Amino acid sequence: MTPADSAFVRACWGTSVPHTPVWFMRQAGRSLPEYHQVRKGIGMLESCRRPELVTEITLQPVRRHGVDAAILFSDIVVPLPAAGIDVDIVPGTGPVIGDPIRDMADVRRLRPITASDVDFVASAVRMLVRELGATPLIGFAGAPFTLASYLIEGGPSRTYTKTKTMMYADPGLWHALLGRLAGIALEFLRAQVAAGVSAVQLFDSWAGALSEADYRRYVLPHSAAVLGGLADLGVPRIHFGVGAGVLLPAMAEAGAEVVGVDWRTPLSRASAQLGPQVSVQGNLDPVTLFAPREVVEAEAARVLAEGRAARGHVFNLGHGVLPDTDPDALTRLVDFVHETTVQ
Ligand code: CP3
Repeated sequence: MTPADSAFVRACWGTSVPHTPVWFMRQAGRSLPEYHQVRKGIGMLESCRRPELVTEITLQPVRRHGVDAAILFSDIVVPLPAAGIDVDIVPGTGPVIGDPIRDMADVRRLRPITASDVDFVASAVRMLVRELGATPLIGFAGAPFTLASYLIEGGPSRTYTKTKTMMYADPGLWHALLGRLAGIALEFLRAQVAAGVSAVQLFDSWAGALSEADYRRYVLPHSAAVLGGLADLGVPRIHFGVGAGVLLPAMAEAGAEVVGVDWRTPLSRASAQLGPQVSVQGNLDPVTLFAPREVVEAEAARVLAEGRAARGHVFNLGHGVLPDTDPDALTRLVDFVHETTVQ
């Protein structure tokens, strides 16, 4: 067995699988006591720069839950300091930008990155590939829109007012910014694939803030540049957004073998919109895990049944694991998905 014949990679391509593969967005991190233990006194971004620590944190959920894929412990803002951005990750808030982007001079100071700028990520990937054996490792990057929203707002936002104002008021500036961010995301992902990841996920977590028309006009060409720039590498590409039900066909058109679906859209409906050339990933509501076991299993069974409409299904949550989730509920869910789908 190699990662390329794993249930996860096969489901991404839509070929036959021994069981439905399962992993969880944010499986590495705050739901695990062993994570808090190794992170003690080390800042989030500093943790991402230490390959041994990244390796340990990435492996923790694989050991504990027996998930079908590991996801690199990193963050979407990790490549930004090399591009000249002053960024920190503030616990309980998320990324905070010291020098938000407002005008063309700001866009011009956003430098392209090279593989050597993120060599610490490549080191971690190489270590992980050795440790993981036949278990695939997923690499990831933030999509241009989601990165832009942090860079323009300066931090998390509810309404994306500054972001959309730039988009509508100054399309030239907007496209210049998204073009540079696409270049950074592409370089970051190509470095991860070169080091050995078996699949990549482009997180456009906040794209659901846009109408389909605006997504197509202002965002899709840039996300398509990232995904299209990976097409020659032979690894499956997953494209994910939250609240992006109306955007799903456009997100597939950007160039993805798998579209990640949040909990709002049934996978059967998503698949009907996406057609037979695309696999789906998702989409149990992460809050379900706080309910009794019978409820989790009934909801998981529904998701699995709806997922059968697609050419391939990677079981996941509709968004990341919430920090207070009982890790044992995640382990039980992995067992349930495996036991009920074994061929
Ligand atoms: O297990 C995994 O999925 C891999 C790790 C991972 C992290 N961030 C680690 C992290 C991944 C895939 C991300 C991606 C990411 N980061 C996204 C896209 C995915 C999504 O959730 O939609 C986004 C929008 C970010 C930006 C970001 N970084 C946010 C919103 C936060 C949370 C802020 C908070 O504290 O609530 C972070 C910080 C972060 N990234 C943490 C982790 C484990 C928490 C920091 C800590 O543990 O100290």
